[in-house]
Amino acid sequence: MTEKTAPTAHPIHPLLAARWSPRAFTGAPVTAEQEASLLEAGRWAASCFNEQPWVFITARKDAEPEAFAKLLSLLSVNNQGWAPAAGLLVIGFARTKFAANGNPNAVAYYDLGQAVAQMALQAVELGLGSHQMRGFDVERARVELAVPADHDPVVAVAFGVTGAPDLLPEALAAREVAPRVRKPITEFAHVGAFGTPVKL
Ligand SMILES: Cc1cc2nc3c(=O)[nH]c(=O)nc-3n(C[C@H](O)[C@H](O)[C@H](O)COP(=O)(O)O)c2cc1C
Repeated sequence: MTEKTAPTAHPIHPLLAARWSPRAFTGAPVTAEQEASLLEAGRWAASCFNEQPWVFITARKDAEPEAFAKLLSLLSVNNQGWAPAAGLLVIGFARTKFAANGNPNAVAYYDLGQAVAQMALQAVELGLGSHQMRGFDVERARVELAVPADHDPVVAVAFGVTGAPDLLPEALAAREVAPRVRKPITEFAHVGAFGTPVKL
């Protein structure tokens, strides 16, 4: 698996530092056991009122080629440039109303994101790469995947065995080896109120 460990300014868990979003996948399968572990990792995410408002539609390329092709067809042209070599495609949905009373769940997307973040970390543990995507046709997904009205398609995720950058076309290969960058903590963490950056 290609490594692109985050150059962190402070110590963090190695799994967190190792997660990144590759595009160069080898085409090797993701096994049913690996898929089960990924979904199990998502299952144990925290959620508001333990609502667990996430739903996933999944397709493994080797075992479910028709479903895989359908999910792939929903991706943007750019994402279709590399995602075919993933072993598992997933689309994540947020159920936007609470089951108990039908009230809007303002944090459904947030909770889905937590589940996907846990899946992305579990992927590292399994030796797999993951790449989240908003670049897919949400409206066509609603129709083609028979999505209930109170479920929003939010994110697609490609999981697979990461390969060398030269598996990719030149422009994407350059992005694959570009340094990973982040804002400094002082730009997004404030003490007490907006305007006073944390002192670290
Ligand atoms: C919700 C979400 C949507 C994204 N959509 C796309 C996408 O459609 N295509 C793509 O190539 N990358 C996509 N990305 C990947 C981001 O560009 C990537 O996470 C970001 O540049 C940080 O890089 P890293 O994940 O390697 O740390 C998405 C990431 C997230 C979390």
